Amino acid sequence: MEPTVTWRDGAVVLIDQRKLPLHEEYLTLADHRAVAAAIRDMAVRGAPAIGVTAAYGLAVALHATRAEGAALAEEFEAAAALLAATRPTAVNLFWAIERMRARFRAGAGRDRTALAEAALAEAQAIDAEDFAACRRMGDLGAALLPPGARVLTHCNAGALATAGYGTALGVIRSAFRDGRIARVYVDETRPFLQGARLTAWELHHEGIPATLIADNMAGHLMARGEIDAVVVGSDRIAANGDVANKIGTYTVAVLAKEHGLPFYVAAPISTFDLNTANGDAIPIEERPEEEVTHHGGKRLAPEGIAVRNPAFDVTPHRYVTAIVCERGVARAPYAESLRALAEGQA
Ligand code: MRU
Repeated sequence: MEPTVTWRDGAVVLIDQRKLPLHEEYLTLADHRAVAAAIRDMAVRGAPAIGVTAAYGLAVALHATRAEGAALAEEFEAAAALLAATRPTAVNLFWAIERMRARFRAGAGRDRTALAEAALAEAQAIDAEDFAACRRMGDLGAALLPPGARVLTHCNAGALATAGYGTALGVIRSAFRDGRIARVYVDETRPFLQGARLTAWELHHEGIPATLIADNMAGHLMARGEIDAVVVGSDRIAANGDVANKIGTYTVAVLAKEHGLPFYVAAPISTFDLNTANGDAIPIEERPEEEVTHHGGKRLAPEGIAVRNPAFDVTPHRYVTAIVCERGVARAPYAESLRALAEGQA
C-alpha cells in the first residue's frame, strides 16, 4: 500500500477510504476544493490524516494559482477557511492549518513560487513528523500492555488515520512485534464502519490476529474475561484530559471501568487542545442521516424516521487510565501531566 496521503506533481494523492476494503483506489487532487471535499466526504479521515491532507491542500492552492502579493494572501486565506470548514471535531485539522498559515506569513514579500515551495516543505514536515510521532508513541504505548494481551479497539486509529503506522494501532503494531498481543478485538464502529472496513483490513494485512465484533458485543466479551485492555485514538484532548473520539468510545470506556480494565488513549501532541478546558467545550460533528438510515447505498430504516448522527463522543478523564503521546505517558491529574508533555518537560 502507498502512504495514506502523499504529494505527487502538484497534487495530493490519497487512497479513497470509502472504497476499502473491497477496492484499492487512489484519488489525485490538484485543486484545494477537491481536497476539502475529500476530507468532508471522508475519502480521507482520522484526525492526524486530515491535518496532513489539509496541509497538502494549502500547498496545492499555492501551486495552482498565478496570483501574487495581496491577492495571493487572500486566496491562501480563502483556501484555509474552506479546508477548516470541513470537519469540526479533530483539532489536528486546525493545528495543521495554523502551522501552514504561520509558514506562509513568515514568507511575506516572497514571490508565489517561493511561497508554494515553502508550503510544500511545511506540509511534508507535518507528514514526516506525524509518522515519527506514531512510531514513538507505538513503542511507548506497547510497554503498557502485558505479554499476550487481548486488546479491544474502536474505530480506525491506524496507518490510514495518520501519516502511517497509526496511534492506537501503532501501539498494537509495536506490542505485537514485542509479543504482547494475543488478539485484537475490533469494534465494527457503527455507523460508518471504520472498524469493520479499515481496522480489520489493516490488521489482516499485517497478520495480527484480529476478531471483528459488532459494537454491542464488547460488554459481553469483557464480562466473560476475554479482553484485557482497551486502546483507542482521539480527535481532541481537552486540558483536563477529557477525550473526544469516534462515537461509541465513551460506551466502551464505561464498560472497561465496570470490568476493571485499563482504558488507554494514544494520540500525538497535535491532538492536544489545551485551550479547551474540558470535553463539554469540544464541538461534536453531526453527520448526514443517510449514514444511519442506509447501508451500502441501500435504505434500512423507514422513510421519515427522526435520526441523530453525532460522529464523536467525549470520554470524561476519570475513565482514562493513561494517555500516550510521542513524548511520554500522561496519567491523572491530566491538567498537569498533559501540559508538561505539551511543553516538552516530561
Ligand atoms: O470520523 P473519523 O473516521 O475521522 O473518526 C476517526 C476517529 O475517531 C479516530 O479514532 C481518531 O481520529 C484518531 S485517528 C489516529
